[in-house]
Amino acid sequence: MKKGPKHVAIIMDGNGRWAKLQGKNRVSGHRQGAKSVREIVEEAAKREVQYLTLFTFSTDNWSRPKDEVSLLMKLLVNSLRKEFNKLIQNNIRLQAVGALNELPSAVKEELDYVIEKTKKNTGLVLSLALNYGGKEELTEAMKAIAYKVKNSIISPEKVDQSTINEHLYTQNLPAVDLLIRTSGEERISNFLLW
Ligand code: IPE
Ligand code: IPE
Ligand code: MG
Repeated sequence: MKKGPKHVAIIMDGNGRWAKLQGKNRVSGHRQGAKSVREIVEEAAKREVQYLTLFTFSTDNWSRPKDEVSLLMKLLVNSLRKEFNKLIQNNIRLQAVGALNELPSAVKEELDYVIEKTKKNTGLVLSLALNYGGKEELTEAMKAIAYKVKNSIISPEKVDQSTINEHLYTQNLPAVDLLIRTSGEERISNFLLW
């Protein structure tokens, strides 16, 4: 069998428009989105994709109506609980990339639990991009490097691409082989810029 992509990244978009076409509300669009994620993860594991990175909640998404944000957070916690056994069964390692300390504590706790319990799994690495923005990620990396230079931990001449890479949330991820945006639009929306 032909070898498939090693790292697949998905911008999970179009939930609202999908729901509208079905004559349903945005909430059911997000629920259906969560169901699709389950199928995608299973299929990726089956096809021996090594890394699957899902753009789940962007730094910009906080500006959505309060009710929608809290629904998305609730859906996330529920999905983590519901899919936990599946992750274990399928040898999947969960991780999260983004400014995680700004997430609601219920989300943080559930996330920490699943990450800890799956950290020794050797199969698919499933990365959830949460409160993630590519520009924010690069800015944080630059800031951390600037501090290290200021404190003489590294010299400016030594700063190279690997220095920057090591300071990213996505430091352990290889380059993306296949990027999918599910809504059919062709925008990057500040995802995985490095
Ligand atoms: C993706 O669907 C869900 C998130 C970004 C969290 P959207 O909610 O963006 O759906 P559209 O793009 O409005 O159709
Ligand atoms: C992209 O979808 C972000 C995520 C999938 C989390 P959005 O619907 O939030 O992006 P824009 O606003 O269309 O760029
Ligand atoms: Mg959208």
